Amino acid sequence: MKQREGFSSGLTVFLVTLSSAVGLGNIWLFPYLTGSNGGAAFILIYLLCIAIVGLPVMLCEFFMGRRTKKNIIGAVTTLSNKKAFKSIGYLGMASTAMIAFFYAVVAGWVYSYVLKSITGTFKGVTNTEVKEIFTSSTTSIFPPAIWVFIVLTVVSIILISGVKKGIEKVTKVLMPILLILLVICVIKSLTLSGAKEGIEFLFKPDFSKVNMAVVVSALGLSFFKLSLGMGTMTTYASYYTKDSNLYGNAAKVIISDTLVSLLAGLAIFPAVFSFGLDPSSGPSLLFETIPLIFSKIPGGSILIVAFFLTAAFASTMALISMIEVLVAYFTEEKKMDRTKAVIIIVSVIFIVSAITSMTVSGGILSKYPLFDTFDKLTSSILLPLGGLIIAIFIGWFVNKKDFLDELSNEGALKQNITAAKISYIIIKFVTPILLIIVFLSSIGVI
Ligand code: TRP
Repeated sequence: MKQREGFSSGLTVFLVTLSSAVGLGNIWLFPYLTGSNGGAAFILIYLLCIAIVGLPVMLCEFFMGRRTKKNIIGAVTTLSNKKAFKSIGYLGMASTAMIAFFYAVVAGWVYSYVLKSITGTFKGVTNTEVKEIFTSSTTSIFPPAIWVFIVLTVVSIILISGVKKGIEKVTKVLMPILLILLVICVIKSLTLSGAKEGIEFLFKPDFSKVNMAVVVSALGLSFFKLSLGMGTMTTYASYYTKDSNLYGNAAKVIISDTLVSLLAGLAIFPAVFSFGLDPSSGPSLLFETIPLIFSKIPGGSILIVAFFLTAAFASTMALISMIEVLVAYFTEEKKMDRTKAVIIIVSVIFIVSAITSMTVSGGILSKYPLFDTFDKLTSSILLPLGGLIIAIFIGWFVNKKDFLDELSNEGALKQNITAAKISYIIIKFVTPILLIIVFLSSIGVI
């Protein structure tokens, strides 16, 4: 039998997993949700969600993947003979596809903004002009669909090259560049006059804006951010080496991902305040406020290229991790050739994403709000639901010893045994109860 591909070393395992977590979630969602939901108060709730729900679910997914070394369906069926649990896999794959449908659209906008930044479109723009540029980039028929095509072509080439020669190799080059570009943007933003207000906004909590809806969106964000609840982390963990430390890796990925989100916040909010702009402008923060800011600061025309390149790299690698869930399934369960699997999956995603790109407000198909539906349905319902089923599955239907053995590398990592025992209790009781409460409230039952 052909040997299954996998990632090389511990550092690669960390970088590749981080490359799935870091994405538009950090650069787009995190800043705008923080901006509209009370700054630091939102961040605190988000951190709590990560500690109580995100970390445990991530450990479950790592366990499922590395224990079985299989795709999400293969993993679930290996761990339990209960047919019902196959639904975790199918639910996961359906959510993956839905996220990819709208994610590819936004990634397309980002790519188009890289080109616009390079060609100097944003030089000296006014408030109304940035709005017009954004509207015309998102609502005309062809440009958005062509950009989706370009994004998906890049993604396909990397996926076809394979787990090691494609995903691993590209990640090792792009992740460090991404981090350097981001830090450059942060330094610039922090040195603007009036930056202090932006920092305060990020770090001083305003609890008056917090309500149940804010908690629901923080929870949804924590799943989306850490690529949880649909088998992405299971799939990537199936490529891990047997000696990597699952607990340590989860902690490193979560901390680094949160740092990247905070860095994105530090690149954006000081500048927003320094120019007296609105921090709670919502989704347009990235595509209108940012270009406007860069058009006003010295050296901005170069920095804006760095900024959108960061976003483009991040979204490409996140998209790859979503599609790999499907590729792993088709190559392993359906015995399809990798190239063929990638081409078929990506073609379907392209068709649906191209249609989705026309359903944004102002688009020709805006009567059918597919874009918003995919976004809301996945973040507020499907991902937390996937996480809930995964936690119940591991907590109640999988052998506890298997879980403890895998997380401690069969007992070799002694310090992980106690940590894994505590996590197991959280996974069994705390995570499900919390998820059920938040879930019921998000669909309006309580
Ligand atoms: N985590 C990525 C981001 O923040 C998005 C992402 C990649 C994702 N893979 C995922 C979200 C799987 C949910 C599930 O942008």
